[in-house]
Amino acid sequence: MNMETIKTRAGGVLPSGTETFQRLLQGDCLEVLKEIPDASVDMVLCDPPYSSGGLFAGDRKQSTNVKYFDTDFNGSAKLPNFSGDNMDQRSFTEFMRMVLSKCRTKTREGGVCCVFIDWRNLPAMTDALQTAGWVYRGIVVWNKGNSRPTPGRFRNDCEYVVWGTNGPKKAEFTKGAFVAGGCYNIKSVNAKDRHHQTQKPVELLEKLIGISPEGGTVLDPFMGSGSTGVACLHTGRNFVGIELDATYYAIAKEWIAKEAENQEGEGDGERQEKEEERAGV
Ligand SMILES: C[S@@+](CC[C@H](N)C(=O)[O-])C[C@H]1O[C@@H](n2cnc3c(N)ncnc32)[C@H](O)[C@@H]1O
Repeated sequence: MNMETIKTRAGGVLPSGTETFQRLLQGDCLEVLKEIPDASVDMVLCDPPYSSGGLFAGDRKQSTNVKYFDTDFNGSAKLPNFSGDNMDQRSFTEFMRMVLSKCRTKTREGGVCCVFIDWRNLPAMTDALQTAGWVYRGIVVWNKGNSRPTPGRFRNDCEYVVWGTNGPKKAEFTKGAFVAGGCYNIKSVNAKDRHHQTQKPVELLEKLIGISPEGGTVLDPFMGSGSTGVACLHTGRNFVGIELDATYYAIAKEWIAKEAENQEGEGDGERQEKEEERAGV
């Protein structure tokens, strides 16, 4: 199993000099998750292959390239295909139940799970989250601002984040307490800037990660290009990322190492400015 740990000066509002780690592991998450200590993470944030992209078995069996790119817009269709996107709904539900169940044992009590999904497999995902033992808390909406237009139909402009907690999560009703938004309008990543066919915007991931403690640890068992790792770097969280495909593992390693290097080189003023920008000050 390939493994890499990148340590760097923490981003976010952690005290100057604090370090965070980004641990990247290559392999099938169902196997690799066994290597992670129980109750060691504060949040699971993941974007699994949706096994969607069509109503019929024939549609689902296409490569991810054919399913998700009808044109080679700005070269986006040249990005590598990825694995695990061809299950029918019954298998997908069971697969996600197994993964989310293993992830839960790795999460401390009260920790949070956030899983991306589209409209087609939303019911499968809410089933899987619950049968994996998480307490189902709700659905966050991501309005990505684009979709394939079909005359006479509603657009499917949104994707969803199903979320839950590992057992009870105490709500602290104190003045100024952090409350996370339930709906985000953030444009999907421009095709020419993508590292992955279905990359999620780092800005969106940073907002979601806000629900976990500063200096805590976020686990992504389907890390793809490593966008969750980049969001963790920026916000002062440790990261544990797993990816099956060697090509995407290498892409994630390169992107995260480059971001860590940039962060290491930033002056305190620049760091403060970025943090304020993120917090909307
Ligand atoms: C939807 S993509 C994640 C994209 C990522 N959020 C990003 O922004 O780059 C899902 C990823 O999970 C990986 N994958 C599929 N099955 C897996 C498995 N069993 N274990 C680990 N990774 C897997 C795929 O190769 C793919 O890169």
